[in-house]
Amino acid sequence: MLRQQDVGHRIVVRRIVGIREGRPLFSDALGELVELSETHLTLATAQGRLRVPVAQVHRAKRVPPTRRPTAAAVVALERAADEAWPAPTRGRLGDWLLRAADGWTGRANSALPIGDPDRPLPAAVDAVERWYAEQGRPALINTPLPLAAPVGAELDSRGWGSRPPTLVQTAPLPLADSGAGRAAAGVGSAAAGAGTAAAEAVVELVAAPSAAWLAIAAGRKGGLPDAARHVLSAVDQVRFAHVYADGALVATGRGTVTGQGRWLGLSLIEVLPEARRQGLARAVIAALADWGVSAGATHAFLQVEQRNSAAVALYQRLGFTTHHTYLTRVAPH
Ligand SMILES: CC(C)(COP(=O)(O)OP(=O)(O)OC[C@H]1O[C@@H](n2cnc3c(N)ncnc32)[C@H](O)[C@@H]1OP(=O)(O)O)[C@@H](O)C(=O)NCCC(=O)NCCS
Repeated sequence: MLRQQDVGHRIVVRRIVGIREGRPLFSDALGELVELSETHLTLATAQGRLRVPVAQVHRAKRVPPTRRPTAAAVVALERAADEAWPAPTRGRLGDWLLRAADGWTGRANSALPIGDPDRPLPAAVDAVERWYAEQGRPALINTPLPLAAPVGAELDSRGWGSRPPTLVQTAPLPLADSGAGRAAAGVGSAAAGAGTAAAEAVVELVAAPSAAWLAIAAGRKGGLPDAARHVLSAVDQVRFAHVYADGALVATGRGTVTGQGRWLGLSLIEVLPEARRQGLARAVIAALADWGVSAGATHAFLQVEQRNSAAVALYQRLGFTTHHTYLTRVAPH
C-alpha cells in the first residue's frame, strides 16, 4: 500500500469498479500521486485528475518514472505549435497566450497557460474569462499535462468541462518508415497492391492551398471563416500537400517549420474515405518530412485526438511517440 513518501511519485492503482457474477471488476490507473488521505488518493493522470476512494483500491504501488520531457521542452514545443497554427487575434497575460480566430479550431481559440500569468491563478482565470467575453467567444483553455495540472485543478473547482484528450506526438527526422521503401518491397498481392498506390502517388507540395484543398479542410473543421485562412497560411515556412487521382484531390496535408527551424509540424492529414488504406497518408507525410528536412527541421510533431485510432496507428507506424497530452477545457455556460 502507499505511504506519504509516495506523494509526488508515479504510481499504478488497481481499483475495484464493480462486481460481475460475484467477481470484482478491476480498472488500472497510472499517474502521479498528488494527495493521499485516510479516505482518498488523488492521481494526476494524462487525462486529468482522478480521485479514488481508498476503499476501492485493490492494490497500489510505485512505478519507475517515465522519461518525461522537461517542462522547458514542453513549453518550447507548445510555442512552436502555436507559431504553426497562428491565431489572428492575440493577447498576453504575462507569459500566457490568449488566442481567437472566429471560433475556428480549439487550438486557435484557447488560452495557452504556460509560464507565469503575472497574477495569482484565480485572477488569471478571471482575466481569461473576461478576454473571451470581450471577443464574444466562449472561454477555452488548453492545458498541457502534467505541466498545467495546477491550472486544471483550478478549472475543475470552477466546473469547467473538457474535450477529449489530445496527444502531442513527436518523432526524429528523417522518419523511421515513411513508406516508399516498404512500397517498393511489397510482399504478397494485397501488400503489393497497396504499395503500388503509394509508390505511384504524386504528392504536390505548394506554398498556397488550392480551392479543393480548402474545401477538404472546411469539411473537416466545420467551415472556413476568414480567420482560418490566416491560421493556415500566416507562417513563413509552410507547404500544402495535394494528391490527385483522376483529376480529383484525394489526399491533403500541411507542413510548417517553426520553433527556430527545429520543428516540422504536420496538420490536416486527410485522405478521402474511398482512397484510404492505400498508403496515401504515408506518402503525404513522407513528402512533407522530406521538405521539412530540406528546410532544416530535425524533429516532427503533430496533435492527434487520443480516440482517433486510425491516425494514432498511422503515426505509431511512422515512429511517433507521445511527448505530452493536453485537454481543451471549456468554461461552463
Ligand atoms: C488517418 C488517415 C489520414 C489515414 O490515411 P490512409 O491513407 O488510409 O493511411 P495509410 O494507407 O497511409 O496507412 C498507413 C498505415 O497506417 C495504419 N493505419 C491507417 N489507417 C488505419 C486504420 N483505420 N486502422 C488501423 N491502422 C491504420 C496502418 O498501419 C497502415 O498500414 P497498412 O494499411 O499497411 O496496414 C485517414 O484514415 C483519414 O483521413 N482519417 C480522417 C482524418 C484524420 O483523422 N486525420 C488525422 C488527423 S490527426
